[in-house]
Order: sequence, then C-alpha cells, then structure tokens
Amino acid sequence: MDGNGRWAKQRGLPRIEGHRRGVEAVRTATYAARDLGVRMLTLYAFSAENWNRPQDEVGGLMGLLEIYLKKELETFIRDRVCLKTIGRIDGLPAGVQRVLANVVEKTAQFSDYTLVLALNYGARSEVLDAAHAYAAAVAAGREKLNDSSWSSFARYLYTSGMPDPDLVIRTSGETRISNFLLLQAAYAEFVFSPVLWPDFAKADLAAAVAEFGRRERRFGQTSDQLKPAAATP
Ligand code: FPP
Repeated sequence: MDGNGRWAKQRGLPRIEGHRRGVEAVRTATYAARDLGVRMLTLYAFSAENWNRPQDEVGGLMGLLEIYLKKELETFIRDRVCLKTIGRIDGLPAGVQRVLANVVEKTAQFSDYTLVLALNYGARSEVLDAAHAYAAAVAAGREKLNDSSWSSFARYLYTSGMPDPDLVIRTSGETRISNFLLLQAAYAEFVFSPVLWPDFAKADLAAAVAEFGRRERRFGQTSDQLKPAAATP
C-alpha cells in the first residue's frame, strides 16, 4: 500500500493525512476484493523496516491502526470478515496487541473471507523465525530432517495454513517487492499500479484482477502442456 506520503505531499498536507486517507482505501479494498470473489486479502500495513521512519510517523501509524481496529470490529462481525495477522506481533505496542488479539479472537469463526494484516512483517525475519522453530521441532523429535519438505517447513511460517498469494499488487509506481512474502509469492503474478494508495479504488483493483486473469500461469510447465488434451475420437 505505497504512496500515502506522496499523496499528502502533492496536496501540501502532513504525511499522516496520507496515511489517514490510506485507511479509507483499506476499507474500500477490503470490500472491493470480496465483491470481486477474492477469498483472502493480505495488506502490507507496516514492515519490519518501517520502524526506521520518524518517531511521530510511526506513532501516528500505530494510533491509526488501533482506531481502525476498534472501529472495524462490529463491521467485521456483521460482514463475517475473519481477521488474521502475519509478522512479529509481539513487537507492536501493547495497546495495539490487545486490540488486535480481541478482533482476531472475535472473528476467528468466519471462514468465507479473510483479511490478513502484515504488521511488523519482513520476509527475512519470517524465514529466520521459521528456521528457529523448525530447528527446535527437530531437536524435540517432532520433525525429522531426513524427510523434510517444503510443506513441512512452510507450517512454521507466519502464513501457516494460508494459501500462497496468486496476485501481488504494489501501488504508487514503485516496482520493488520490499521484503514482502518472498517465499510465498514464488509463483504469484505481479501487478504494479501507478495509482497512489489513497486513490486506489475498486476499479483499480478490478483492473488488476482482470490483468491477472489474462496471465498464463505455467508453474514451470510449457504452454502446450497446459492446454486441455484434445478429445480422442
Ligand atoms: C507506504 O506509503 C505506506 C505505509 C508504510 C503504511 C501503510 C498504512 C496504511 C495504509 C494505513 C494504516 C493501515 C491500516 C491497516 C489501518 P509511504 O508512506 O511510504 O508513501 P510514500 O512512498 O509516498 O512516502
């Protein structure tokens, strides 16, 4: 969700105003994705590297997150939205952790549509955390190194139990991955939109999904292999 700062700057507003409008775009995208038939939407809301921003911006973002979660709880319950998180949640301010835990618990029963917030998330820390947990499981005899597989290791990632992303969208014209779901996005399609996040509307999401629909996903195979076999006479 990139471009909040530039959106604000273009209007002569403080950066936090861009983030505030970014929260509105989060609401729009949450329901737009569901209307488009998406079952799981992950939003990169705060990266492990975002702590390096000026303290007042970090504080402002945490404040917005807490307000958003408190406001959204009733709506999530009404609309049967399940909220999950990925990232080092224990590194977030205690107040945010409390509100998050409450929303996660109260929406855990819903399964039709899931909103995942990546918070204090970085793919490299995720791999490290998973490697530590996996090593501990091997040491305790719960995993066996000689029959390790990607699927057994993937259970130790923050995304355990979640499907890999089919489509990754980055807004604001930047064309970087920025430490986002590096392993899970191994076969994802990427769409880079020039639109700044606060302006990212349902039509922009629909355009990205339509673009996704035009891609041929080969997963290492050839185009010919993917064609349905000709009917035998
Ligand atoms: C990147 O834009 C955006 C962020 C680091 C924060 C994203 C946060 C929100 C959209 C609001 C809070 C989220 C929730 C879920 C309540 P940038 O600030 O780097 O923009 P710039 O590159 O134009 O400066």
